[in-house]
Amino acid sequence: MRKLANLVSELKPSPIREMLKIVAELKRNKIDVIQLSTGQPSLPVDKEVLDELIKVFLNDPIKVSSYTPTGGIRELHEAIVADLKIFGKIDVNLNEVVVTEGATEGLLLTALALFEKGDEVVMMDPSYVSYPHVTLIAGAKPIYVCEKVEEGYQPNLERIKEKITEKTKAIILATPDNPTGRVIREEIAKGLIDLSIDHDFWLIIDEAYKHLIYEGEHYWFWRYANARERTICVNTFSKDPAMTGFRLGYIYGPSEVISAIEKIKQYTTLCSNTPAQIAAIKYLQPEVKKRILEYTLRIYKARRDALYNAVKEKLPEVKTIKPEGAMYMFVNMENVLRKLNMDDYQFMIELVKNKHVAVIYGGAFGPESKNHIRLTFVGENEERLRKGVELIREFIDERK
Ligand SMILES: Cc1ncc(COP(=O)(O)O)c(C=O)c1O
Repeated sequence: MRKLANLVSELKPSPIREMLKIVAELKRNKIDVIQLSTGQPSLPVDKEVLDELIKVFLNDPIKVSSYTPTGGIRELHEAIVADLKIFGKIDVNLNEVVVTEGATEGLLLTALALFEKGDEVVMMDPSYVSYPHVTLIAGAKPIYVCEKVEEGYQPNLERIKEKITEKTKAIILATPDNPTGRVIREEIAKGLIDLSIDHDFWLIIDEAYKHLIYEGEHYWFWRYANARERTICVNTFSKDPAMTGFRLGYIYGPSEVISAIEKIKQYTTLCSNTPAQIAAIKYLQPEVKKRILEYTLRIYKARRDALYNAVKEKLPEVKTIKPEGAMYMFVNMENVLRKLNMDDYQFMIELVKNKHVAVIYGGAFGPESKNHIRLTFVGENEERLRKGVELIREFIDERK
């Protein structure tokens, strides 16, 4: 057989997919698994949104099963622009938006449009698992900058500055963040904008969780005129409307970048999922979205509190922050792992096999993030979240 492309060996299988496989196998054997691993909302898609989709399916089946323009249905563009005005108080033009197959395609298309061989892309350690991989796919090099629990996992501007070179093409980060749940502070966001101007690089802001904030506020980079021409914001309908399997998202950014992304998309996915675009138009109706957000945030905040309190009470030897947003808590397990003489990957595997609690090991999010685990709080109710933490305690005590 002729050799595969070198790129394939540079990409690591996603630990999240790996954990999904283990959990699926346990479930096939009728084992109840406490799911603290994947960012899969356990709430169903809202009925009003589904009803609208079914109605369009029945009344106009050709519309639902047809291609759309590459950049998305115009009505959806208009809804996105109106939504950004209502929630973000930002003015975005129709030609500054492109619809994508989830944020995953959004991140890849952004990387393909901006990066090339020789470029360096700065990202946080920990970072969402896609960032280094889309960077590598685009031929560029990921450069990590460590975030620390003692600093609330906020990006550290001094450490970032040390990593900036002539080759720096972009900084990519999420706020609210996966895996740490931190929401970027205004002065740090402004510091990043200043750095991007001084050193002429792009800012790629992953806003997947911009509506899932329990304390504080989302920092809208686009509110700041001097940030607009260099900031690309990647969004998804997977998280707040719980439409993960619908595969839909969007990007807003400078029109030249959006056109470039659309050009590449013509030859990758051609256009995004049509039924999902119809559902998204319904979700973006302001009264529908406000109602869904209010409901979702109430449930997730209670779950966040339950997980955080359980960790504080049952695992006093670990270090973490109370997540202000997103769906995750990132737990520094150094003290525990040292005593158990285990690494974070072994801990994840042994825990799921012995106690049927699924978590993700920290090393998956960056080289310096080993010795952590990521816990998701949206996939289980409060009682099962507490049970999950009790089982982690039991596992640690039995192994000591
Ligand atoms: C920060 C972040 N960005 C992007 C994604 C990908 O989301 P999508 O389902 O829209 O591809 C996720 C999914 O968990 C995420 O956490």
